[in-house]
Amino acid sequence: MKEKINKYINDINNIVISNPVEASSFKNKYLTKKGVLNQLFSEFKQLPGAEKKETGQLLNKLKILAFSKLETVENNSKPNKNKEIIDVTLPSNYEEIGSVHPLSKVQENIVNILKKVGFSISKEREIEDDWHNFSALNMPQNHPARDMQDTFFIDLNPDILLRTHTSSVQIRHMEKHKPPIRIISPGRVYRKEDISARAHCIFHQIEGLYIDQNVSFSDLKAIINYFLKSLFGKDVKTRFRPSFFPFTEPSAEVDIYWGLESESDYRITKGTGWLEIMGCGMIDPNVLKNVNIDADKFSGFAFGLGIERITMLLYQIDDLRLFFENDIRFIKQFQKAF
Ligand code: PHE
Repeated sequence: MKEKINKYINDINNIVISNPVEASSFKNKYLTKKGVLNQLFSEFKQLPGAEKKETGQLLNKLKILAFSKLETVENNSKPNKNKEIIDVTLPSNYEEIGSVHPLSKVQENIVNILKKVGFSISKEREIEDDWHNFSALNMPQNHPARDMQDTFFIDLNPDILLRTHTSSVQIRHMEKHKPPIRIISPGRVYRKEDISARAHCIFHQIEGLYIDQNVSFSDLKAIINYFLKSLFGKDVKTRFRPSFFPFTEPSAEVDIYWGLESESDYRITKGTGWLEIMGCGMIDPNVLKNVNIDADKFSGFAFGLGIERITMLLYQIDDLRLFFENDIRFIKQFQKAF
Protein backbone atom coordinates (compact mmCIF):
# COMPACT_ATOMS: atom_id res chain seq x y z
CA MET A 1 0.00 0.00 0.00
CA LYS A 2 2.85 2.37 0.77
CA GLU A 3 4.08 2.07 -2.79
CA LYS A 4 0.66 2.99 -4.11
CA ILE A 5 0.54 6.07 -1.88
CA ASN A 6 4.03 7.12 -2.93
CA LYS A 7 3.02 6.81 -6.55
CA TYR A 8 0.05 9.15 -5.96
CA ILE A 9 2.30 11.63 -4.12
CA ASN A 10 4.60 11.61 -7.04
CA ASP A 11 1.71 12.04 -9.50
CA ILE A 12 0.30 15.02 -7.65
CA ASN A 13 3.69 16.69 -7.45
CA ASN A 14 3.98 16.45 -11.20
CA ILE A 15 0.46 17.53 -12.11
CA VAL A 16 0.10 21.02 -13.54
CA ILE A 17 -3.35 22.47 -13.09
CA SER A 18 -3.76 25.46 -15.34
CA ASN A 19 -7.50 25.97 -15.73
CA PRO A 20 -10.79 25.36 -13.88
CA VAL A 21 -11.57 22.22 -15.93
CA GLU A 22 -8.31 20.62 -14.89
CA ALA A 23 -8.98 21.68 -11.31
CA SER A 24 -12.36 19.99 -11.19
CA SER A 25 -11.08 16.76 -12.71
CA PHE A 26 -8.31 16.76 -10.09
CA LYS A 27 -10.91 17.20 -7.40
CA ASN A 28 -13.06 14.39 -8.86
CA LYS A 29 -10.14 12.01 -9.01
CA TYR A 30 -8.73 12.58 -5.56
CA LEU A 31 -11.13 14.33 -3.27
CA THR A 32 -14.67 13.15 -3.87
CA LYS A 33 -16.45 10.45 -1.91
CA LYS A 34 -15.36 7.76 -4.28
CA GLY A 35 -12.06 9.44 -4.99
CA VAL A 36 -8.57 8.09 -4.43
CA LEU A 37 -8.18 9.47 -0.93
CA ASN A 38 -11.36 7.98 0.46
CA GLN A 39 -10.57 4.61 -1.10
CA LEU A 40 -7.15 4.63 0.41
CA PHE A 41 -8.54 5.48 3.83
CA SER A 42 -10.92 2.51 3.59
CA GLU A 43 -8.02 0.26 2.66
CA PHE A 44 -6.04 1.71 5.52
CA LYS A 45 -8.64 0.59 8.03
CA GLN A 46 -8.12 -3.04 6.99
CA LEU A 47 -4.37 -2.93 7.57
CA PRO A 48 -2.82 -4.98 10.36
CA GLY A 49 -1.93 -2.77 13.36
CA ALA A 50 1.84 -3.04 12.86
CA GLU A 51 1.71 -1.41 9.43
CA LYS A 52 -0.71 1.33 10.42
CA LYS A 53 1.79 3.83 11.82
CA GLU A 54 4.01 4.35 8.80
CA THR A 55 1.28 3.97 6.24
CA GLY A 56 -0.94 6.37 8.16
CA GLN A 57 1.74 9.06 8.13
CA LEU A 58 2.25 8.64 4.42
CA LEU A 59 -1.47 8.76 3.78
CA ASN A 60 -1.76 11.99 5.74
CA LYS A 61 1.04 13.45 3.67
CA LEU A 62 -0.88 12.61 0.51
CA LYS A 63 -4.07 14.13 1.89
CA ILE A 64 -2.37 17.41 2.82
CA LEU A 65 -0.65 17.54 -0.55
CA ALA A 66 -3.87 16.99 -2.52
CA PHE A 67 -5.78 19.65 -0.60
CA SER A 68 -3.00 22.20 -0.74
CA LYS A 69 -2.54 21.66 -4.48
CA LEU A 70 -6.16 22.49 -5.07
CA GLU A 71 -6.06 25.40 -2.68
CA THR A 72 -3.12 27.11 -4.40
CA VAL A 73 -4.79 26.70 -7.77
CA GLU A 74 -8.03 28.22 -6.50
CA ASN A 75 -6.20 31.09 -4.81
CA ASN A 76 -4.32 31.94 -7.95
CA SER A 77 -7.39 31.96 -10.11
CA LYS A 78 -9.62 34.27 -8.07
CA PRO A 79 -8.66 37.92 -7.47
CA ASN A 80 -6.97 38.16 -4.09
CA LYS A 81 -8.03 41.07 -1.94
CA ASN A 82 -4.82 41.05 0.09
CA LYS A 83 -2.55 41.20 -2.91
CA GLU A 84 -1.26 44.65 -3.84
CA ILE A 85 -2.47 45.77 -7.22
CA ILE A 86 -0.21 48.25 -8.95
CA ASP A 87 -1.86 50.68 -11.29
CA VAL A 88 1.01 51.88 -13.44
CA THR A 89 -1.11 54.63 -14.96
CA LEU A 90 -1.39 56.56 -11.66
CA PRO A 91 0.94 59.55 -11.16
CA SER A 92 3.85 58.69 -8.86
CA ASN A 93 4.25 60.00 -5.32
CA TYR A 94 5.32 63.62 -5.24
CA GLU A 95 8.77 63.99 -3.73
CA GLU A 96 9.69 67.44 -2.47
CA ILE A 97 12.90 68.41 -4.22
CA GLY A 98 15.03 70.95 -2.40
CA SER A 99 17.02 73.71 -3.98
CA VAL A 100 20.50 75.12 -3.59
CA HIS A 101 20.48 77.86 -0.96
CA PRO A 102 20.84 81.30 -2.58
CA LEU A 103 23.85 82.09 -0.38
CA SER A 104 25.63 78.91 -1.52
CA LYS A 105 24.89 79.72 -5.13
CA VAL A 106 26.12 83.32 -4.94
CA GLN A 107 29.22 82.17 -3.07
CA GLU A 108 29.88 79.61 -5.77
CA ASN A 109 29.52 82.27 -8.49
CA ILE A 110 31.96 84.59 -6.70
CA VAL A 111 34.46 81.79 -6.17
CA ASN A 112 34.27 80.79 -9.84
CA ILE A 113 34.88 84.35 -11.02
CA LEU A 114 37.99 84.65 -8.86
CA LYS A 115 39.28 81.18 -9.68
CA LYS A 116 39.45 82.25 -13.32
CA VAL A 117 42.12 84.80 -12.47
CA GLY A 118 44.27 82.44 -10.44
CA PHE A 119 42.86 82.47 -6.91
CA SER A 120 42.45 79.20 -5.08
CA ILE A 121 40.36 78.43 -2.01
CA SER A 122 41.78 78.36 1.49
CA LYS A 123 39.51 77.47 4.40
CA GLU A 124 40.16 77.75 8.09
CA ARG A 125 38.60 77.28 11.51
CA GLU A 126 35.69 79.39 12.76
CA ILE A 127 36.87 79.27 16.38
CA GLU A 128 39.91 81.49 16.55
CA ASP A 129 42.39 82.91 19.00
CA ASP A 130 43.01 86.58 19.59
CA TRP A 131 46.25 86.59 17.58
CA HIS A 132 44.75 85.40 14.29
CA ASN A 133 41.52 87.35 14.48
CA PHE A 134 42.91 90.62 15.87
CA SER A 135 46.50 91.09 17.03
CA ALA A 136 48.32 89.79 13.96
CA LEU A 137 46.02 91.93 11.84
CA ASN A 138 47.50 95.03 13.43
CA MET A 139 44.80 95.32 16.08
CA PRO A 140 46.63 94.94 19.39
CA GLN A 141 44.74 94.70 22.72
CA ASN A 142 42.65 97.81 23.37
CA HIS A 143 42.88 98.96 19.76
CA PRO A 144 39.71 100.99 19.11
CA ALA A 145 39.09 99.19 15.79
CA ARG A 146 38.18 96.08 17.77
CA ASP A 147 34.95 97.84 18.68
CA MET A 148 33.90 97.77 15.04
CA GLN A 149 33.41 94.02 15.39
CA ASP A 150 31.47 93.01 18.49
CA THR A 151 32.85 89.65 19.45
CA PHE A 152 31.49 86.40 20.87
CA PHE A 153 34.10 85.12 23.31
CA ILE A 154 34.24 81.42 24.08
CA ASP A 155 37.04 81.68 26.61
CA LEU A 156 38.98 84.50 28.22
CA ASN A 157 42.65 84.36 29.15
CA PRO A 158 43.74 83.32 26.63
CA ASP A 159 41.01 84.73 24.43
CA ILE A 160 39.24 82.18 22.27
CA LEU A 161 36.46 83.55 20.11
CA LEU A 162 34.22 83.04 17.10
CA ARG A 163 35.98 84.73 14.21
CA THR A 164 34.49 88.12 13.41
CA HIS A 165 35.79 88.17 9.84
CA THR A 166 37.52 85.91 7.35
CA SER A 167 40.69 88.03 7.57
CA SER A 168 41.92 85.52 10.15
CA VAL A 169 42.45 83.12 7.24
CA GLN A 170 45.00 85.54 5.72
CA ILE A 171 47.17 85.20 8.79
CA ARG A 172 46.93 81.42 9.04
CA HIS A 173 47.68 81.04 5.36
CA MET A 174 50.67 83.41 5.39
CA GLU A 175 52.09 81.62 8.43
CA LYS A 176 52.17 78.40 6.45
CA HIS A 177 52.95 79.58 2.91
CA LYS A 178 55.50 81.87 1.33
CA PRO A 179 54.59 84.31 -1.48
CA PRO A 180 53.42 84.32 -4.21
CA ILE A 181 50.00 83.88 -2.58
CA ARG A 182 46.61 84.15 -4.26
CA ILE A 183 43.79 82.85 -2.11
CA ILE A 184 40.13 83.40 -1.47
CA SER A 185 38.49 82.22 1.70
CA PRO A 186 34.73 81.98 1.87
CA GLY A 187 33.17 81.21 5.23
CA ARG A 188 30.90 81.94 8.12
CA VAL A 189 31.65 84.75 10.54
CA TYR A 190 30.04 85.82 13.82
CA ARG A 191 29.32 89.15 15.48
CA LYS A 192 27.41 90.00 18.60
CA GLU A 193 24.65 91.95 16.88
CA ASP A 194 20.94 92.10 17.61
CA ILE A 195 19.11 90.21 14.91
CA SER A 196 17.05 92.41 12.60
CA ALA A 197 16.21 92.73 8.90
CA ARG A 198 19.62 94.37 8.36
CA ALA A 199 21.91 92.63 10.85
CA HIS A 200 22.51 89.10 12.06
CA CYS A 201 24.90 87.41 14.42
CA ILE A 202 25.95 84.97 11.70
CA PHE A 203 26.82 85.89 8.16
CA HIS A 204 29.21 84.95 5.38
CA GLN A 205 32.22 86.70 3.91
CA ILE A 206 34.76 86.09 1.22
CA GLU A 207 38.25 87.32 1.76
CA GLY A 208 40.81 87.68 -1.02
CA LEU A 209 44.57 87.89 -0.51
CA TYR A 210 47.24 88.52 -3.13
CA ILE A 211 50.93 88.78 -2.26
CA ASP A 212 53.89 88.92 -4.62
CA GLN A 213 56.72 91.22 -5.65
CA ASN A 214 55.73 94.65 -6.99
CA VAL A 215 52.02 94.40 -6.33
CA SER A 216 50.45 97.84 -6.47
CA PHE A 217 47.11 99.51 -5.83
CA SER A 218 46.41 99.45 -9.57
CA ASP A 219 46.57 95.63 -9.49
CA LEU A 220 44.00 95.72 -6.71
CA LYS A 221 41.77 98.03 -8.74
CA ALA A 222 42.06 95.87 -11.83
CA ILE A 223 41.07 92.69 -9.99
CA ILE A 224 38.16 94.34 -8.20
CA ASN A 225 36.82 95.98 -11.35
CA TYR A 226 37.06 92.67 -13.20
CA PHE A 227 35.29 90.96 -10.31
CA LEU A 228 32.43 93.45 -10.03
CA LYS A 229 31.87 93.55 -13.79
CA SER A 230 31.66 89.76 -13.86
CA LEU A 231 29.17 89.75 -11.01
CA PHE A 232 26.94 92.75 -11.80
CA GLY A 233 27.40 93.07 -15.58
CA LYS A 234 30.06 94.74 -17.67
CA ASP A 235 28.44 98.20 -17.59
CA VAL A 236 28.63 98.51 -13.81
CA LYS A 237 30.21 101.74 -12.56
CA THR A 238 32.56 101.45 -9.58
CA ARG A 239 34.30 103.94 -7.30
CA PHE A 240 36.98 103.56 -4.63
CA ARG A 241 36.51 105.67 -1.50
CA PRO A 242 39.33 106.14 1.01
CA SER A 243 38.56 104.26 4.23
CA PHE A 244 40.24 102.65 7.20
CA PHE A 245 41.05 99.06 8.15
CA PRO A 246 43.84 98.37 10.62
CA PHE A 247 45.39 95.65 8.46
CA THR A 248 45.50 97.58 5.17
CA GLU A 249 47.21 100.85 4.26
CA PRO A 250 45.95 102.59 2.22
CA SER A 251 42.42 101.23 2.60
CA ALA A 252 39.34 101.77 0.50
CA GLU A 253 35.71 100.90 0.30
CA VAL A 254 34.30 100.08 -3.08
CA ASP A 255 30.89 101.30 -4.24
CA ILE A 256 28.89 100.41 -7.31
CA TYR A 257 26.41 102.73 -8.97
CA TRP A 258 23.00 101.23 -8.38
CA GLY A 259 20.87 103.99 -9.88
CA LEU A 260 17.96 106.01 -8.58
CA GLU A 261 15.04 104.77 -10.60
CA SER A 262 12.66 103.44 -7.99
CA GLU A 263 11.65 104.30 -4.49
CA SER A 264 13.57 101.29 -3.20
CA ASP A 265 16.73 102.51 -5.04
CA TYR A 266 16.44 105.71 -3.02
CA ARG A 267 16.00 103.74 0.17
CA ILE A 268 18.87 101.31 -0.23
CA THR A 269 21.34 103.89 -1.59
CA LYS A 270 20.23 106.54 0.91
CA GLY A 271 19.43 108.82 -1.97
CA THR A 272 22.93 108.79 -3.47
CA GLY A 273 22.54 106.05 -6.09
CA TRP A 274 25.79 104.48 -4.79
CA LEU A 275 26.05 101.27 -2.79
CA GLU A 276 28.94 100.12 -0.69
CA ILE A 277 29.96 96.62 -1.72
CA MET A 278 33.30 95.73 -0.16
CA GLY A 279 36.41 96.74 1.74
CA CYS A 280 39.95 96.45 0.46
CA GLY A 281 43.47 97.83 0.68
CA MET A 282 47.20 97.19 0.48
CA ILE A 283 48.40 94.85 3.22
CA ASP A 284 49.92 96.87 6.05
CA PRO A 285 53.68 96.10 6.36
CA ASN A 286 53.09 95.40 10.08
CA VAL A 287 50.88 92.45 9.12
CA LEU A 288 53.57 91.04 6.82
CA LYS A 289 56.10 91.38 9.64
CA ASN A 290 53.78 89.47 11.99
CA VAL A 291 53.90 86.47 9.70
CA ASN A 292 57.61 86.77 8.82
CA ILE A 293 57.20 87.91 5.25
CA ASP A 294 59.83 90.43 4.12
CA ALA A 295 57.86 93.67 3.67
CA ASP A 296 60.69 95.25 1.68
CA LYS A 297 60.55 92.52 -0.90
CA PHE A 298 56.86 91.68 -1.03
CA SER A 299 53.65 93.64 -1.12
CA GLY A 300 50.05 92.68 -1.60
CA PHE A 301 46.42 93.49 -1.25
CA ALA A 302 43.35 92.08 0.46
CA PHE A 303 39.66 92.52 -0.03
CA GLY A 304 36.61 91.31 1.80
CA LEU A 305 32.92 91.28 1.10
CA GLY A 306 29.70 90.04 2.64
CA ILE A 307 27.87 87.35 0.70
CA GLU A 308 24.46 88.17 2.21
CA ARG A 309 24.71 91.76 1.06
CA ILE A 310 25.53 90.79 -2.51
CA THR A 311 22.74 88.18 -2.58
CA MET A 312 20.22 90.70 -1.24
CA LEU A 313 21.15 93.11 -3.99
CA LEU A 314 21.12 90.56 -6.78
CA TYR A 315 17.72 89.14 -5.82
CA GLN A 316 16.14 92.15 -4.11
CA ILE A 317 15.69 90.47 -0.75
CA ASP A 318 15.02 92.98 1.98
CA ASP A 319 15.20 90.88 5.13
CA LEU A 320 18.45 89.18 6.12
CA ARG A 321 16.69 86.79 8.50
CA LEU A 322 15.11 84.92 5.58
CA PHE A 323 18.48 83.37 4.76
CA PHE A 324 18.64 81.55 8.08
CA GLU A 325 15.06 80.38 8.50
CA ASN A 326 15.32 77.69 5.82
CA ASP A 327 11.71 78.11 4.79
CA ILE A 328 11.41 75.91 1.72
CA ARG A 329 8.97 78.41 0.14
CA PHE A 330 11.68 81.09 0.25
CA ILE A 331 14.52 78.88 -0.92
CA LYS A 332 12.51 77.34 -3.74
CA GLN A 333 12.01 80.71 -5.39
CA PHE A 334 15.63 80.54 -6.47
CA GLN A 335 15.33 77.25 -8.33
CA LYS A 336 14.69 79.04 -11.60
CA ALA A 337 17.09 81.91 -10.98
CA PHE A 338 20.06 79.56 -11.07
N1 PHE B 1 37.74 92.17 7.35
C1 PHE B 1 37.06 93.36 6.98
C2 PHE B 1 35.69 93.39 7.68
O1 PHE B 1 35.19 92.37 8.01
C3 PHE B 1 36.88 93.47 5.50
C4 PHE B 1 38.18 93.66 4.77
C5 PHE B 1 38.87 92.58 4.31
C6 PHE B 1 38.70 94.92 4.54
C7 PHE B 1 40.08 92.73 3.63
C8 PHE B 1 39.88 95.07 3.85
C9 PHE B 1 40.56 94.01 3.41
O2 PHE B 1 35.11 94.42 7.88
